[in-house]
Amino acid sequence: MYVTLEEAANLLLSGKNVAVPTETVYGLAACCKDKRAIENIFRLKGRPRENPLIVHLSQSSDIYKFAELPVEFEALAKAFWPGPLTLVVPVDPDAVLSSVRAGLSTCAFRVPSHPLARELIKKTGPLVMPSANVSGRPSSTSALHVEEDFGSDFPVLDGGEAAEGVESTIVYFLDKTVVIREGAIPRESLSRVLGVVPEMMPRSNKPLCPGQSFRHYAPRAKLVIARGHHGAVVGFEDRDYGEGELYSLGRSDDAAGVARRLYEVLRALDRDGVSLASVDMEMPDTHLWSTIKERLGRAVSGV
Ligand code: TXA
Ligand code: MG
Repeated sequence: MYVTLEEAANLLLSGKNVAVPTETVYGLAACCKDKRAIENIFRLKGRPRENPLIVHLSQSSDIYKFAELPVEFEALAKAFWPGPLTLVVPVDPDAVLSSVRAGLSTCAFRVPSHPLARELIKKTGPLVMPSANVSGRPSSTSALHVEEDFGSDFPVLDGGEAAEGVESTIVYFLDKTVVIREGAIPRESLSRVLGVVPEMMPRSNKPLCPGQSFRHYAPRAKLVIARGHHGAVVGFEDRDYGEGELYSLGRSDDAAGVARRLYEVLRALDRDGVSLASVDMEMPDTHLWSTIKERLGRAVSGV
């Protein structure tokens, strides 16, 4: 059920959940102080309670109501907010509900750049928003995807197709800045602020939260890595897959376009009842391709 900005704000302020467009993927929103509405997010998504949520702000300066930022994070916020960067910082436990933080002493924050999201948050105050998909399914990049997962009665603020198509990049401060989830801002792009390309959080580190190891981004279809020649192929329109039925990610020289199409392609497999598809993983390991490869890798391996 499509709702207007005004209706979305009223629903949220009266304790309901609404799906909200952001520039990365659609979010499933609740007011950040509303215990019941937050509880309902976990129930609706089938999301484990140990997986914390991101608090979304309408402007960067609102972060100081919750937390202080390490100097490097100040610079990152200045350079990339509003936009697809999430900062995880220590917070005063009284400032953010425990259910939002999954009981951790840190909390994740971001200022989305989608104009509807920002307008909405101005009216409602900070919103928690996990991606608007049933847990373990591909994220939603359109209002239609939200309906696929939550039904046509579920309130959605339609903001068109998501401009980035993959989730925000999440950074964490661990004696130096590290990336804990690759996302719409490539790691390489963070170096213009940090001076170096930040590393991925070492795998040997114990997960910061169990949420990091949950199954993600996977369609129901079984995916295998191959440049397949029959059956369904997730691949590129400028490559030849013989007899394969192509689910096109776009052109192999257009990472931004591929990121935008990625979840629609994974969802299309399920819509068509495809049970087995091969995935062409031949793409670079750098920049936005690295994010795309990570998401496809998870969809293939089911972790
Ligand atoms: O682009 C995005 O970030 C989208 C849009 C809606 O903003 N949101 C999103 O939320 O992807 P979600 O819940 O699907 O993923 C957030 C991830 C969690 O899985 C968790 O791993 C991590 O953020 N996270 C949140 N709080 C954390 C914390 N305090 N420490 C470590 N990781 C945290
Ligand atoms: Mg998610």
